[in-house]
Amino acid sequence: MGSTSVNREMGPALRVVMMPRDTNPQGTIFGGILLSYIDQAGAVAAREYQPHRFVTVAMDKVEFKQPVFVGDLLSFYGRVMKVGRTSVTIHVSVEAQRFTDPREVVPVTEAELVYVAVNKRHEPVPVETPPETVGGEALPKAD
Ligand SMILES: CC(C)(COP(=O)(O)OP(=O)(O)OC[C@H]1O[C@@H](n2cnc3c(N)ncnc32)[C@H](O)[C@@H]1OP(=O)(O)O)[C@@H](O)C(=O)NCCC(=O)NCCS
Repeated sequence: MGSTSVNREMGPALRVVMMPRDTNPQGTIFGGILLSYIDQAGAVAAREYQPHRFVTVAMDKVEFKQPVFVGDLLSFYGRVMKVGRTSVTIHVSVEAQRFTDPREVVPVTEAELVYVAVNKRHEPVPVETPPETVGGEALPKAD
């Protein structure tokens, strides 16, 4: 396997302030919102590892440990756990910097996700193959 260095040293994959629109009927942050950001953060980490098109095939072991509140600043850290033939497993951990006291930073949730590298036809392709050569497809050129 290649590098597992996509982690805290590289900073979070995402940082997001929780808004009133993100709440559940109890007034705390809706878990589904966090799942969406976890999925995005994992995808960012997968693409930092290798810039393929990735699709999420599985999300596992999601654990919500602490409530999240409006105004909290969430940081999502992604770490490559395992590289298979066409899949990459990413561990995402999330911490909240509390709005009420920014010195308070608490772990709120973590999850493990599996992403599969696919080509334009949505078929799995080898992760370790440089994306520009997969299926003879060129990556889009930067402007
Ligand atoms: C991802 C997808 C392309 C895989 O197609 P597939 O025909 O199942 O491909 P394979 O059986 O060859 O599996 C591909 C890889 O995914 C892994 N995989 C498949 N199902 C998995 C699961 N439930 N959990 C973990 N890994 C899984 C396989 O182990 C394999 O990994 P490897 O090559 O590193 O060993 C296909 O299932 C798909 O398009 N799913 C929808 C993805 C999507 O749209 N996600 C967004 C949310 S809807």
